[in-house]
Amino acid sequence: MVEPVRSTTHAEREAALEVAGWNPFQLAASDVELDLLTDSGTGAMSHDQWAALLRGDESYAGSRSFERFREAVQDVLGFRYVVPTHQGRGAESIFFGAVIDPGEIVPSNAHFDTTRAHIEVRRGVALDLPVPEAYDPRAESPFKGNVDLEALERLLAGNDGGKVSILMLTITNNAGGGQPVSLDNIRRTAELARRYGKKLVLDIARFAENAWFVREREPGYAETPLPDIVRASLAEADAVLMSAKKDAIANIGGFVAVRDDEEFFHRLQGRGIVFEGFPTYGGLAGRDLEAIAVGLREVLDPEYLRYRIKQVAYLGHVLEEAGAAVVRPFGGHAIYLDAGTMLAHLPPSRFPAQALTCALYLAGGVRTVEIGSVMAGRDPETGENRHPPLELVRLAVPRRVYTSRQLELAAEATAEVTRDPGAVAGLKIVYEAPVLRHFTARFRPAA
Ligand code: F0G
Repeated sequence: MVEPVRSTTHAEREAALEVAGWNPFQLAASDVELDLLTDSGTGAMSHDQWAALLRGDESYAGSRSFERFREAVQDVLGFRYVVPTHQGRGAESIFFGAVIDPGEIVPSNAHFDTTRAHIEVRRGVALDLPVPEAYDPRAESPFKGNVDLEALERLLAGNDGGKVSILMLTITNNAGGGQPVSLDNIRRTAELARRYGKKLVLDIARFAENAWFVREREPGYAETPLPDIVRASLAEADAVLMSAKKDAIANIGGFVAVRDDEEFFHRLQGRGIVFEGFPTYGGLAGRDLEAIAVGLREVLDPEYLRYRIKQVAYLGHVLEEAGAAVVRPFGGHAIYLDAGTMLAHLPPSRFPAQALTCALYLAGGVRTVEIGSVMAGRDPETGENRHPPLELVRLAVPRRVYTSRQLELAAEATAEVTRDPGAVAGLKIVYEAPVLRHFTARFRPAA
């Protein structure tokens, strides 16, 4: 599929940003020249996916498309039971609704925003326990997505251990740089889960990219086929949550898969019927299930993954050449700019990362996303703004969409910003929603 791309003038972008309330989420896509807002649902489907779409069986119950979808989940991921959902947060909704009681603590390497929201709206506590180097943007360690096992064990052995029933890992870690989790870290987390009688649940939105990094970086796996690394990574999880909009390269979809707990699976199915749809379509058309089934297998093609990871790294290199402070090592699906360093004149209360997303748009029509104090929202107890350790801007690369030359536009925009960072004004919030405010918040320049 070929889509038009429209170039805009600086004056047009200024007007568009004003209308959007200084929030790139509120821009019209037609006003964006290079859209790196997200890698979610924005991938280009392959010829085989488009062909599979035509096979979509739209029967309400027991469709052939569901059978092919379930077979792919069983073959590729190794889980017997699966509940399809309209996207990842649909999976989160039916899963957390079944497991979270008020006060429940859910530790993880790092929860992404929607996961955190689903825990917090049920008055649970979403606790991030990343390894310390995750907070050092310049540390070159290979698996900065790992969970801090000592901190996790302290939690489980301590007074609050009884408030934990599941341990989570997000692979790769989207909130902290798209960094991978090692197979060793997954296994040790599983050991802790068994020792303390907890369930292990993985958010596998980017499982294929994680497997690629395991093969590249973890001793002993250089020759292991990617499907085997995936199966080994998931072998000890009791359940997985998936947004099929990422590493199933579909435009919509998600699921919860459960290894062998039939009773729990039935509870999830029951919740799915209320919120998503009958258990064999779950908010999706039969044709979407077909696209996911094909995408789940395609994403493990080593030729595809090599290109994917190298293209993202290329973006990282050109951004560094343009003078950006970039989180190292480069992530799997995105490059993260360290806005706190690049716009050091702005305190967290002036939302430097949000300000940088606006500056990049103004400079070159490039849309990116804030992962900093805006996304972190307010503490549900105190109502105060939360300020995470890093103020980041994510440049997420859609799968199989842009040429590397197009990605250079982001570097050109960045170079314009780094020539005079002091010219970037901080922002004030003028409107915010109580939950997941970053999508709809409105701002104005503070100066
Ligand atoms: N888990 C992770 C790790 C995610 O990155 C996302 C979505 C979700 C769950 C929720 O899935 O969007 O299908 O409901 N991340 C997108 C992003 C929105 O831009 O990173 P969803």
